[in-house]
Amino acid sequence: MGFQTTAPFDDQRPGTSGLRKAVTVFRQANYLENFIQATFDCLPGLAGATLVIGGDGRYYNSAAVQTILQMAAANGVARAVVGRCGILSTPAASHLIRKRGALGGFILSASHNPGGPDGDFGIKFNGTNGGPAPEALTEAFYARSRVIDSYRIRDGADINLDRLGEALAGPMVVEIIDPVADYAALMAEIFDMAAIRTLFAGGFRMVFDAMSAVTGPYATEILENRLGAGPGTVINGTPLEDFGGHHPDPNLVHAAELVAMLSGAGAPDFGAASDGDGDRNMILGRDFYVSPSDSLAVLAANARHVPHFRGGLKGIARSMPTSQAADRVAADLGICCYETPTGWKFFGTLLDAGRISLCGEESFGTGSDHVREKDGLWAVLMWLNILAVRRLSVAELVREHWQTYGRTFYGRHDYEGVATDGANALMAELRAGLAALPGTGLGGRAVASADDFSYLDPVDGSRSERQGVRIGFADGSRIVYRLSGTGTSGATLRVYLERYEPDPARHEVSASEALADLAALAAEYAGIVRHTNRTNPDVVT
Ligand code: G1P
Ligand code: ZN
Repeated sequence: MGFQTTAPFDDQRPGTSGLRKAVTVFRQANYLENFIQATFDCLPGLAGATLVIGGDGRYYNSAAVQTILQMAAANGVARAVVGRCGILSTPAASHLIRKRGALGGFILSASHNPGGPDGDFGIKFNGTNGGPAPEALTEAFYARSRVIDSYRIRDGADINLDRLGEALAGPMVVEIIDPVADYAALMAEIFDMAAIRTLFAGGFRMVFDAMSAVTGPYATEILENRLGAGPGTVINGTPLEDFGGHHPDPNLVHAAELVAMLSGAGAPDFGAASDGDGDRNMILGRDFYVSPSDSLAVLAANARHVPHFRGGLKGIARSMPTSQAADRVAADLGICCYETPTGWKFFGTLLDAGRISLCGEESFGTGSDHVREKDGLWAVLMWLNILAVRRLSVAELVREHWQTYGRTFYGRHDYEGVATDGANALMAELRAGLAALPGTGLGGRAVASADDFSYLDPVDGSRSERQGVRIGFADGSRIVYRLSGTGTSGATLRVYLERYEPDPARHEVSASEALADLAALAAEYAGIVRHTNRTNPDVVT
């Protein structure tokens, strides 16, 4: 057992999405060790506890798992449950923590950021409910990381992570498990697997793009082996340390190969993709893109067709920038729709308190009370279950939804890697102008409300301020501006646009056409060119 010295962190403040940095930063001497020891020092009940450990298989994943194991052993952990080869998708890890009654777990991932020696790495701690540690705890980790001067590590040989079964790291048991089995069993409890099998047996064809990231083995086992989707349904199904050089981010830009496969008369019926660590999803029909905001609303309206939700939904939650399409469904169902700040942690308290059953974000994240993370493959299975019961195509189901509830055109414009000073100045100007806006007109539209979103958590009473500037118009349209909290270089400005259209005769235009006026207004009003030197967004989703 060694007792090593370590330098304190400088700027590494881990949020609830964890610590996300370039691999080169993580490889600095004692860097990872500092984070792990700081976390251990803040966890009551660590001695004798069970921890879950796994990640998305990106570069540095295995090395990090070995370090964590030797440190866990030296810190008195009794049992570490590890996915074979150090692999666990984020939702699978969340499930495993809950199922095993573990104290918590380390999830190794930088989500949808590129991987490889020059890519990003990340680590976060999830607590016993399976969800990201609350902010009070991540702040404590951070404070501790600033002052610790040593860490505990066992000086032992690497554990063979390829072999299922138990090994020992000193007194600690290392249990190497099949990363897919428990998750696949959970999915079989939630969904009508027989109905989905019948759908595939009837000739329904789909493509699932695992983007060379963690969901490959999960999707192959569940879709191809258990549900009978044809071989080759899963593409890019082998997890690679660098994701084949791509961004493992399921959107129209980064999943272009899938989008191309879904277009044209001979295309499959259904397409889906997930991200690096398996918590995001994108849903496509033949020649049809489902916006994540619409996806949440359609799933909510049809959830009763899924066995797990047969008793009805307790409530729904969406992040503030997510479109208000789900609110209309909630109103119709007579249930509450909570509007939370961006980030999954806010859904956690609502899920734990039993206030909601379904939640989602515009950023390709959808989830439910089955785990405490968003879940990409689960969302795909939700769609499959509903399509199997409703016997409609993706496009028919969504169009039917628009007929019933009206269509909410939606778009997000990202300006990535802009200068931080300019981005901060833009937000400061917007904030300064808020009070004067209501009652005036902007670009010919009457402004009904304008504020910097703040949230009072109805369960734990915590308050979150300055969560994004939103301007609401009298016709139901909205513009929202906020800065990303997950970028690793410079600032990323996100501009969210939505426009409500009740008239079905006006639904058949593209979102970009329907939102063109609003987009121009949003750029002009905020002075985006002036503050960022950018005339166009880098990514539009
Ligand atoms: C982004 C998404 C947000 C999501 C988060 C983690 O955060 O916008 O919805 O919860 O990634 O996946 P942002 O970069 O906008 O702070
Ligand atoms: Zn992710």
